[in-house]
This record gives sequence, structure tokens and C-alpha cells, in this order.
Amino acid sequence: MPAHTVEVRVARPYPVVVGDGLDLVETLSRSLEPGLCAVLTDSTVGPLHAAAVREDLERAGWRMAGVLEVPAGESSKSLTTYARTVRELARLGLTRDATLFALGGGVVGDLGGFVAGTYMRGVDLVMLPTSLLAMVDSSVGGKVGVDLPEGKNLVGAFVRPRLVAADLDWLRTLPERELSNGLAESVKMGLLAGGTFFDDLVHLLESARAGDPEALLQLVLHSVRFKAHVVAEDELEGGMRAILNYGHTVGHALEAAAGYALAHGSAVAAGMVAAARLSRERLGTDLLALHEALISTAGLPLRVPRVDTREALLAMRRDKKRPASATTGGEHRFVLLEDVGRPLRGVPVDEKEVARAIEAVVE
Ligand SMILES: NC(=O)c1ccc[n+]([C@@H]2O[C@H](COP(=O)([O-])OP(=O)(O)OC[C@H]3O[C@@H](n4cnc5c(N)ncnc54)[C@H](O)[C@@H]3O)[C@@H](O)[C@H]2O)c1
Ligand SMILES: [Zn+2]
Repeated sequence: MPAHTVEVRVARPYPVVVGDGLDLVETLSRSLEPGLCAVLTDSTVGPLHAAAVREDLERAGWRMAGVLEVPAGESSKSLTTYARTVRELARLGLTRDATLFALGGGVVGDLGGFVAGTYMRGVDLVMLPTSLLAMVDSSVGGKVGVDLPEGKNLVGAFVRPRLVAADLDWLRTLPERELSNGLAESVKMGLLAGGTFFDDLVHLLESARAGDPEALLQLVLHSVRFKAHVVAEDELEGGMRAILNYGHTVGHALEAAAGYALAHGSAVAAGMVAAARLSRERLGTDLLALHEALISTAGLPLRVPRVDTREALLAMRRDKKRPASATTGGEHRFVLLEDVGRPLRGVPVDEKEVARAIEAVVE
């Protein structure tokens, strides 16, 4: 299958290359000069894919300082793991002209990106996303960072990668549940984008879950093109990029309230159902059944296990996206849908309504 390239047209543009059985040596050689590098991965992806990637890097002429492995899971998106990682890079003798390859899911990408952006005030970053979620969403757009116990992604930066290269072959080892978590972000993009992406969505979700590589490719390409378009319009989230937070206001709050024991994709799925309820109440658009059908087709539950609603509301108050003017009152701002393909930003919702919407998506 030939590789497909989507260009992210920001001040320093970068390509997102997607293929099934991607020729990594060729992909790297086409856009980068080889030099000193390190690979960051996690304890699940490392044993499965790091050896082959290392071999490809060396064949493409890169000198490998080392492969660093962090424990798999959201708990590695922490200040502790960040500190451990930058210190290890220093011990490995990584220099300022080096490149960090982030090989893994969204956790490795977010952590690795923050490491690359700050170690020696910044080394080059290449994203090698191995989870569907990272391929369709987190590897593109430059948002990187770590969590605090107080809230998701509270420490971070914008760091542009030089290149994003996704080999769909990596998904063959991805557990079904993780595939579904990635599909949740694709559902989000399809609802926001509308058009042919939305028209194809149900079919693509079904075929992707059945393991059809062509459907996976189309889902990734649709999602990356849409995200690249949004990011090119508003890279630093001064305005319209905020639509990508659809389902995330409640989703992030659920994750924090669950002590990050909840997968991001599942939390976002429940967050979108909550947002659909709020859209119905605030805007009179009833897309609730559609949301429930899409999320079920993606293989995700419509509710998350018992999470304390008060804890979730507290986490929402600490959310960095909440304007300072709203931190004292009981008001929250939401991305809601006027219709498929027609998101509306900054819709005020009072805390009582939010609490009801959260309760409706918690078991
Ligand atoms: N930066 C952004 O714009 C952005 C956007 C969306 C999500 N995110 C972040 O991404 C994170 C979620 O990403 P995720 O769902 O990829 O989580 P993850 O990185 O924890 O990956 C999920 C699990 O799948 C495993 N895995 C990954 N690739 C695999 C493969 N090919 N084979 C077998 N196992 C594999 C991982 O080891 C992990 O256990 C969250 O922290 C979320 O906040 C960031
Ligand atoms: Zn997300």
C-alpha cells in the first residue's frame, strides 16, 4: 500500500505520513538529515516494536544514544517520569542537535514531546504513533505535556514535530479496547467535520473494528486531514481550535476524578454523550441517539464506572480552559453541537446542568 502524506501547514510545516507496512527508512530519509537520536517508548510498545524501529533508524543512518522505556499507562504522563526521562537523556549524552523519537501511544507522545521541547531548551521531535488514538489525534498539532494530580495536561507546551510517521502495521498488536478508545476521537472528529467524513463514519467504524486495513487508513486520513486543517487555522488555540475539545470538558474531569484509572478515549466518549445532552437542553438539537449509536458502534460503553460527580465538578473548576472570569461563579463553558458539522464554542452552562449531564453518564 503506498504511503499517504498530509501536510500540517503551520509556520514550520511538517508532514504526517501514513501507510500500512510503511517504509520507515525511506520516509525518514525523505524529510530528515540523520544524526544522534534517542527513542522514548513504553513498557508495552517497546518489547513489541522498538527493535524493528531501532534497526530502521540505524539503516537510515541515525546514531542511537539509547532506547528509553517508561511504564505503560497514563501514570507516566507525570512530572516524576518527566524528570526521570530528561535526566536519563543527560546521562546518555544527548546533545542539543539530537532528535527524540516518541514511539508509542498518546502518553509517550505527550510526555516525549514535552521532553523534546524542554530538554536543553529543545531538541527535534519525531512522532511515531502506535495507538489508533495517537494516529488520529494526539500525534498531530503539537500539544504536549504531563498531568498533575490536580488535573489533566496542566503542565505543557506547544512543540512542533519535524515529522509524524504512522505505520498501520503497528496497530496489529493493539488490544481491541485500545482500538475503540482511538475510535472515540475519530467519532469526535467526524461529528465536528460533518460532510463526507461523517457520511462514511458508521461504515468506517464497523469495518475498522473488523480489522479492515483500508477502513483504518481512511479513518486515520479523514481525522488527520481534519485536525491538520483546524491546527493550520489556529495552532495556539486562540479560538477555533477549541472545538477539538468537544466531549473533553466532562471527559477530562471524569479522568481526573477517577485518578486517571479511566482510559482517555472512554472518558471522551462519555463526555460526548454528556455534551449531546447539554446540546439538547441549551440549543434544542437532539443528537443524543446519534451519539449513543456511534459510540456503541465504536465498541465503547455509554457510561463510565462509578466516578464521584462532585470530584468531577471540582476538576472542571480547575480546568485550564476555563476563563478566569468563570472561576468564582458556577458557570462552565462548553463546545456544543448545533448540528453535525456545526460546533459552537464557549456556550455557558450552569453547574447544576453540568452535574445532571455528568450523573447521566456515570454508572
Ligand atoms: N496532545 C494531544 O493533542 C492529545 C490528543 C488526544 C489525546 N491526548 C492524550 O493521549 C493520551 C491517550 O493516548 P492513548 O490512548 O494512545 O494512550 P496510551 O499511550 O496509554 O496507549 C494506550 C495503551 O495501548 C498500548 N499500546 C500503544 N500502542 C500499542 C501497540 N501498537 N500495540 C500494543 N499496545 C499498544 C500502550 O502501551 C498503552 O498501554 C492521553 O493522555 C490523552 O490526554 C493528547
Ligand atoms: Zn482527546
